[in-house]
Amino acid sequence: MTLNVMVTGAARGIGRAIAELYAERGARVLSADLNLPPLLKGQERVKADVASRAGRARIVAAARDKLGRVDVLVNNAAYQEAHGSVLEVSEAGWQRTLDVNLTAPLLLVRALIELLPPGGAVVNVASVQGLFAEQGNAAYTSSKGGLVNLTRAMCLDLAPRGLRVNAVAPGAISTEGLRAAIDASDDPDQTRRDYEDLHALRRIGTPREVAQAVYFLGSPEASFITGVILPIDGGMTASFMMAGRPV
Ligand SMILES: NC(=O)c1ccc[n+]([C@@H]2O[C@H](COP(=O)([O-])OP(=O)(O)OC[C@H]3O[C@@H](n4cnc5c(N)ncnc54)[C@H](O)[C@@H]3O)[C@@H](O)[C@H]2O)c1
Repeated sequence: MTLNVMVTGAARGIGRAIAELYAERGARVLSADLNLPPLLKGQERVKADVASRAGRARIVAAARDKLGRVDVLVNNAAYQEAHGSVLEVSEAGWQRTLDVNLTAPLLLVRALIELLPPGGAVVNVASVQGLFAEQGNAAYTSSKGGLVNLTRAMCLDLAPRGLRVNAVAPGAISTEGLRAAIDASDDPDQTRRDYEDLHALRRIGTPREVAQAVYFLGSPEASFITGVILPIDGGMTASFMMAGRPV
């Protein structure tokens, strides 16, 4: 039976890698993004804002038409306001961050619930910033912390339907966004090394490494795993020291 998969935020970065991995392995993938994702061979796509009611309605209609059934839903789309501390972050930025990163996964699961069959799985893409806070990034870190516990709430509330719900918590991953941030810094080589040194493995991860973990959590190989937050972080969260400094 062909696996039907919906991935949000799949136009680029980690979401793109997730959609590509599923497609490579023969799944039918529906990619949803604010920007139209590049078309994968034999795959479907929908342009939609996961944080808007109209966008979610388009996603549900596309899922019904193109897939009929959603075996795996990957909530990956995210918004990050330019860094803002607790005292600085704008109300609009705070609200948009929570709308996209926390409320949209809740409402999308609700909107798609009748298409998620028993044995189906939801994988939420959280962050190590959902496990610990980063100074000066109040909205994003709060949204990901919320998504971590929303994952546990979904695990408990959807288990009676035979659904499993897990999350991945990536460390620094080499995406367009991270590379641009490194390049825009005063000393890109030093900034790259600083990012690498956050991880026990002393390197930045790849989108493919996150995709492989998402694939596993969504697969029958993980049939007794639910409510788990899996760090994909090269050992970052194994330590109470980061970059040689106590945190
Ligand atoms: N890159 C990292 O280092 C890193 C680390 C930890 C967690 N993450 C998480 O991984 C996920 C993917 O990150 P990324 O770095 O690939 O991000 P990215 O910014 O490169 O891509 C995000 C995609 O989501 C889409 N998107 C944003 N808001 C949307 C909305 N409202 N509706 C529909 N689509 C929307 C964007 O258009 C974009 O294509 C996010 O949840 C992010 O928080 C990333």
